[in-house]
Amino acid sequence: MQIQLDWANLGFEYIPTKYKVKAYYKNGKWGKLEVFEEDYLPIHIAATTLHYGQEAFEGLKAYRGKDGKVRLFRWQENALRLQSSARRLLMPEVPIEMFHEAILTVTKLNKDFIPPYGYGATFYLRPLLIGSGPKVGVKPADEYLFLVFGIPAGSYFKGGFKTQDFLIVRKYDRAAPLGTGNIKAGGNYAAGLIATEEAHKKGYANALFLDPKEKKYIDEAGPANFFGIKNKTYITPKSDSILPSITNKSLMQLAEYLGYKVEQRKMPVEELETLEEAGACGTAAVITPIGKIVDEELGKTYVISKDGNPGPISTELYKTLTGIQFGEIDDPFGWTEVVDM
Ligand SMILES: Cc1ncc(COP(=O)(O)O)c(C=O)c1O
Repeated sequence: MQIQLDWANLGFEYIPTKYKVKAYYKNGKWGKLEVFEEDYLPIHIAATTLHYGQEAFEGLKAYRGKDGKVRLFRWQENALRLQSSARRLLMPEVPIEMFHEAILTVTKLNKDFIPPYGYGATFYLRPLLIGSGPKVGVKPADEYLFLVFGIPAGSYFKGGFKTQDFLIVRKYDRAAPLGTGNIKAGGNYAAGLIATEEAHKKGYANALFLDPKEKKYIDEAGPANFFGIKNKTYITPKSDSILPSITNKSLMQLAEYLGYKVEQRKMPVEELETLEEAGACGTAAVITPIGKIVDEELGKTYVISKDGNPGPISTELYKTLTGIQFGEIDDPFGWTEVVDM
């Protein structure tokens, strides 16, 4: 029976759902996926994830469509990105098929928690890969755990599709030039917490990070990529220290499909002055249009949206992307998979 929640006001918080799945990697091979119900895990006190942050995760969504069907969006990209994170952190890759089976199982078994169509809410899936075996010396573990849980989720940034302000942070980096910024390692988020909290305390939606090497170029917008729009061109930073966002990749394809130019290149901070629109994009953020960006240390404010509203191209991209995800419009790229429930 469908769970009753305040679908219109869901945030991005842990809500217990019924079923999770997990599999262990031992003696050089993956075991079978098992379904479990607990919110807690028994874990070895010397597990490498606890001490040395040998851990990576993913985030993707299942969408209840206008036609009542449930769709997954570009899950193969998340599976591949988790494999890339695993390689960088010396963890075993989760086979694509195992990843697929895990997200399908969690989606199907928790179907009562998948928000109904019409609230902009979704079922957010969180795959996690951790070093579970004990090591006290700094070494990769011998045993690993892959698990997936899901939560009903609303918008990550308060208010849905509304402009938000961002704070340029110069005091802290979330990643190093040749570090792990381009994979989804938990440690990146621990390193960025302080900047995010500072931004929140000052009333901003999140921190806008600059490139860690020269502090000249825009990197990412908190847990989301950054894009700007000017002269009918979608521009997004090219950087080795940002996460290759699946949403951003999709928006680049959509922008081209809709007749705009696309540039993926370094974006000097001063270019903010010339942007007609800007946004943060990601699975959780979807598109969060940006109102203004403040650089407190240099005493500068870049007003992106003159009237405080999302711009027309961001709005068109948002409607097209979410239209495909919620099955409201055709999916010309074959990005969605209907889950056989
Ligand atoms: C640091 C960071 N950048 C960008 C993104 C957006 O990536 P995606 O669109 O694949 O969710 C995320 C979220 O996953 C993130 O955590």
